[in-house]
Amino acid sequence: MKRSIIKDLLQEGSKLINQQVNIKGWVRTKRGNKNVAFIEVNDGSIIHNIQVVIDLAEYNDEATMKKISTGACISATGELVASQGQGQSFEILGKSIEVYGEADPEKYPLQKKGHTLEFLREIAHLRPRTNTFGAVLRLRHALSFAIHKFYNDNGFYYLHTPIITGSDCEGAGAMFRVTTLDLNNLPKTPEGKIDYAQDFFGKETNLTVSGQLEGELGALALSNIYTFGPTFRAENSNTTRHLSEFWMIEPEMAFYDINDNMDLAERFLKYLISYILENCKDDLEFLQKMYDNELIERLSFVVNNTFERLTYTEAIDILVKSGQSFEFPVKWGVDLQSEHERYLVEKHFKKPVILTNYPKDIKAFYMKLNDDGKTVRAMDVLFPKIGEIIGGSQREENYDKLLGRIKEMGIHENDVWWYLETRRFGTAPHSGFGLGFERLMLFISGMGNIRDVIPFPRTPQNADF
Ligand code: 4AD
Ligand code: MG
Repeated sequence: MKRSIIKDLLQEGSKLINQQVNIKGWVRTKRGNKNVAFIEVNDGSIIHNIQVVIDLAEYNDEATMKKISTGACISATGELVASQGQGQSFEILGKSIEVYGEADPEKYPLQKKGHTLEFLREIAHLRPRTNTFGAVLRLRHALSFAIHKFYNDNGFYYLHTPIITGSDCEGAGAMFRVTTLDLNNLPKTPEGKIDYAQDFFGKETNLTVSGQLEGELGALALSNIYTFGPTFRAENSNTTRHLSEFWMIEPEMAFYDINDNMDLAERFLKYLISYILENCKDDLEFLQKMYDNELIERLSFVVNNTFERLTYTEAIDILVKSGQSFEFPVKWGVDLQSEHERYLVEKHFKKPVILTNYPKDIKAFYMKLNDDGKTVRAMDVLFPKIGEIIGGSQREENYDKLLGRIKEMGIHENDVWWYLETRRFGTAPHSGFGLGFERLMLFISGMGNIRDVIPFPRTPQNADF
């Protein structure tokens, strides 16, 4: 018999009412008495379970019933009926059951409800079977789909940028090396340095920290592109907002200035949040109930309010005058910490903020220099509870100025010769930004720790599963 997806049965069950149906999934609970058993089954298609009701007077396969416990995987067949109980629309009067896999009640770790998120991280191989991670993983899927839909509908092309690269886009130096050299027996040059000519690619390579530089090459041909892929940072940041491996969406647009860039970022974020509000109600309601009672209100607020735009210099002014005692003192020239960003967003403006025109010394080499010679046309989008969710800029399109910045920052011209050539041949004003996928997932799910919005988090000292 053809298997029905539980989501379809719960939502469109009236089409199959009083007919025989089959479902397959994992048992969430089994309860009852000697006359009747109620088995709640979930197959991950939706947050809700379907209930299989078994009349034990008719169904006398005791051996099978014994094997059914929380976590077991079963296939159940029976008549779909309107539910007598409250809280569910349809249930199944189970007539035949097959147990695919038992889950020893003494050993299966997901027995009682209310495990801590910390504990669930230790069993990341099983946590997708919890309501929380089911909801998070379905949200990740919906959000990914909405991202592709937004760009496709707006005439952007999805560009696949490399994961292994020889360049360091952000210049932060926090890169994971990629090598096939024997670490116990490294080949050396006559000067005693490691001889990377003998490495797999014949040069030093690393995992990408950003697809932007290659993204720019695409934009200077296709006009509007975006990337959506994994990026890697070897910074030793043990915070609730940093991962060593995270996903980033990076649109890059020819002929956009910084204002066009901000407009796109704001429209993009609002589109994604609206999409989730419209399409993922059940999962949002669950997460709101469990973790964050203002979640849906906060999401709607962001969709319905204009982001505040101001310069870095104006922001510093506000922070200095705030009278707050920050852990990291503020003065013009310092990089903003999350405490500063959150003060601006949560206390001062009480809505998302876009900061522009940062000091050139705290930003990457590729950002367009302003006429003041001190600031660059950078933009960071700051969100409540998160801080920086997007970082971007208008790019320096002038060959001489770009080369000047490259030299100033000690970057080897030879490593980025191809990037420089785009400024020699048909250069164009252009802009782009990077959205941290998991930062947005944090905001959308209401979860408090970035380790809980990605299936298998990579953080310092942790690459299990
Ligand atoms: O601000 P970042 O470093 O900007 C870039 O990489 C640019 N190349 C983007 C561009 O202009 N195309 O990173 C962009 C975003 C941040 O705003 C943040 O949301 C996220 O990526 N991010 C991280 N997310 C999780 N863990 C980390 N360690 C992150 N580092 C950055
Ligand atoms: Mg940044």
